[in-house]
Amino acid sequence: MRHLSIGFIGAGLIAHGHALALRSIIEGPTLGEATAELSLVYDIEQPKAAVFAEQHGVKAVAKEAGEMFDRTGPDVLYICTPTSSHKSYYLQAAEAGKQVFIEKPLAFSIAEIKEMIRARKKAGIKTQVGLVLRFEPVFWFIKQLIEKEKNRLGPLLSFYFRSDQEWPLCGSFHDSAWRSDPDQAFAGCLFEHSIHDVDLIRYLFGEVKDLSASVRYRSATCAGQIEDVAVINFSMESGATGNLTTMYHHIKGRDVRRLEIFFERAAIILDDYKPGDFNQRFRSLTLELSGEPLRQFTGEEVDREYYRHIGNPALLCPEMVSPYRYQALAFLEALLERREPFPDLQTALEAHRIIDSVYAYARRRTLPVSG
Ligand SMILES: NC(=O)c1ccc[n+]([C@@H]2O[C@H](COP(=O)([O-])OP(=O)(O)OC[C@H]3O[C@@H](n4cnc5c(N)ncnc54)[C@H](O)[C@@H]3O)[C@@H](O)[C@H]2O)c1
Repeated sequence: MRHLSIGFIGAGLIAHGHALALRSIIEGPTLGEATAELSLVYDIEQPKAAVFAEQHGVKAVAKEAGEMFDRTGPDVLYICTPTSSHKSYYLQAAEAGKQVFIEKPLAFSIAEIKEMIRARKKAGIKTQVGLVLRFEPVFWFIKQLIEKEKNRLGPLLSFYFRSDQEWPLCGSFHDSAWRSDPDQAFAGCLFEHSIHDVDLIRYLFGEVKDLSASVRYRSATCAGQIEDVAVINFSMESGATGNLTTMYHHIKGRDVRRLEIFFERAAIILDDYKPGDFNQRFRSLTLELSGEPLRQFTGEEVDREYYRHIGNPALLCPEMVSPYRYQALAFLEALLERREPFPDLQTALEAHRIIDSVYAYARRRTLPVSG
């Protein structure tokens, strides 16, 4: 039997999400013989840590960050602070031999991420990155559909992916001033939010060969450094093309994705995907195959297939479907079975490389339209 003692650095929005997801697993029968507990929390704002401990039954509140890395402290750390402090906390965790779940984005530069990868290898610790869309049943379902039906779909031609979100600053959710501060967030909708979408594009469609892009700073909220629009055109290794349009807007409470995938003889359309919505996470998913009636897939069908795929685990509340729970489950299982968790630092690095190329392209390549 094994026991995992879990600590949190940062007690804000996503930390609460992870704590709920972890509790839905560790307070139920899911782990079998193994056990886990939320043992310690630290936040630079002490009252937030105290509220977090109270809400989630965390055993103790750390007064200083250093307590998190103590030999007698937790053996697993969740790093849930603004992006600027991820690398420093990660390096300290590695030095202390802790297993780590770290939120995206990883750091401000590729060089810093490589430093984190070297530290992980040297310390021999396990690390999972919070690229949560890898655990969203509907994206797994689409990937399966593409693989199962590939002979009938024909070659992939092109994909159109739109991801839009209310400015995550003092809005209806993600109420966080740090996201408007380049020293803490580094950049805007592409880096902070759509790193998920870039990772998803690699998951569904393979490697990106090259790209062109526009990055824009339209809203007064942008302060010239936190972009609110990025439009990227991808050429994929497979020969297909694709587009990602991502933006921050001021439409209250809106956080929606739409994905259209075109093959030679078929189209798959996912409409109104909402990550925060537990009950109805998408409005419709359809497959239109040439010469056949339109097929519609329901959320229940998607969730049922996914549940079966991950081995029908005995979850505390199986009706509460959330990629955050599947993400937490995958992390705990990997630690208990002493496997490498996934997605790892290297996978996140690949998404960061693409985002870096977008910013580099947008800085260098503008072609004025002359009259
Ligand atoms: N994977 C996802 O779906 C997802 C969703 C939201 C946020 N995130 C990521 O999680 C991270 C945190 O975002 P959030 O929305 O929870 O922000 P938040 O502002 O709600 O919470 C951050 C917390 O960290 C604390 N903090 C700030 N600096 C600190 C420091 N140096 N040491 C300790 N505590 C510190 C703040 O007081 C706050 O309580 C970001 O990297 C963000 O990109 C990921």
